[in-house]
Amino acid sequence: MASSSGLPKTSLPWADGDIDLESPNRNLAPISTELDSQGRLRVGGCLLSDLATRFGTPLYVLDELTLRQACVAYREALLRHYPGPSLAIYASKANSSLAITALVASEGLGLDAVSAGELLTALEGGMPPERIVLHGNNKSAEEIQLALQHGVAVVVDNWRDLELLQELCQGHSSKVPLFLRFTPGIECHTHEYIRTGHLDSKFGFDPDQLETVLRFLANCSWAHLRGLHAHIGSQIFELTPHRDLAAVLADALLLARSLGHNVTDLNVGGGLGIRYVNSDDPPSIDCWVQVVAEAIAGACKERELDLPRLLCEPGRSLVASAGITLYQIGSRKEIAGFSTYVAVDGGMSDNPRPITYQSEYTACLADQAAAPAVEKVTLVGKHCESGDVLLRNLDLPASKPGDVLVVLATGAYNASMASNYNRIPRPAAVLVADGRAELVQRRERPDELLRYDVLPERLK
Ligand code: LLP
Repeated sequence: MASSSGLPKTSLPWADGDIDLESPNRNLAPISTELDSQGRLRVGGCLLSDLATRFGTPLYVLDELTLRQACVAYREALLRHYPGPSLAIYASKANSSLAITALVASEGLGLDAVSAGELLTALEGGMPPERIVLHGNNKSAEEIQLALQHGVAVVVDNWRDLELLQELCQGHSSKVPLFLRFTPGIECHTHEYIRTGHLDSKFGFDPDQLETVLRFLANCSWAHLRGLHAHIGSQIFELTPHRDLAAVLADALLLARSLGHNVTDLNVGGGLGIRYVNSDDPPSIDCWVQVVAEAIAGACKERELDLPRLLCEPGRSLVASAGITLYQIGSRKEIAGFSTYVAVDGGMSDNPRPITYQSEYTACLADQAAAPAVEKVTLVGKHCESGDVLLRNLDLPASKPGDVLVVLATGAYNASMASNYNRIPRPAAVLVADGRAELVQRRERPDELLRYDVLPERLK
């Protein structure tokens, strides 16, 4: 089905626009999603209801094509719009696993890790250490040591980082590659928990301290300040804040170079939003990169600065739309004059975003994706908490226990934020491509959750 823009037009009921094959963040569903003649959904050539039977539910499904396409989109947009060298770095907090690391590494991207766990996953998943950066507003000595051991660049966030680095780098023969993170003081419209660029933020040095820190670092023989970093927030649709960030970073670059630092890299962070519901309309990856690249190149030119290498750190816009979650429908409660609750076999433990940020999602039945809705339901999880609501006002066709329900765009900040609340095991994850489904994260078992409990002798 072709539309006026030449892109295929989706026949999926919850999406009335074109499928943007080039910018996955603009689609509700993975780009390989198909509806077969019986109204059943396939992703990566795999029938979703078959995946549910084969691997159990809840199940995270990741579409390789969508993830790779998002990587390609960043890589190519940087080449197209930035006249100097560049690198997109995957913010692995969005979804950290060996398989995702391997895919992202194979596409030539770098990776941002914020803990020993994410760093070990990156190294073990085959990400070259020179393409990794270690972030964090309260890094432990062990985390910094791990980065140093592998030659991973450390993003210095505060004075405590510098104290620890100084202790650990005594006698280090080669210089340690560093980035300096500061708060750019830029406001943007997103949920207040995921805003980081405004001045009252726990991340990065206050801009007032920048000169002092740069002077301090100029006297550290063990340090090579390679780059400057600022991140303004997440799930952002506006382009102006990122355009404004360029001038702030270029000023900092000018200052750093004037103080003798051979700073070659500017890292603008991540933040590009994605479509969770039909009314969301995020910019494309190409458009976002164009704005950032032109703003950085322009701001450097104005200040007569040699072009730095441009780094960006997308998380959500790389993986969110590649991922969906499959659940099985269970119980139902109808309250006359109020709501109809339909419960699934997961909830806030595998997707804490609705209860944490009031995030909205889109969902449908895997085998009746195009069937007309017959009712509006409140989709709830199985946790002992009234707020465990995945979706409100969900239009659903007639459903019954055992039906497979799909929640879309769950590839970012779901698996990585999952918990064992109510001692519920975390789901398995599968990677789908060309009709093949491969397990990339094993499902936890309830008995495994006892593994870290210790019962003192006297209580036995
Ligand atoms: N770089 C840094 C330094 C960051 O702190 C973040 C996200 C990113 C890059 C990636 O941002 P993205 O491209 O994903 O927007 N848990 C929240 C999101 C928290 C984002 C934290 N930092 C959520 O579920 O919405």
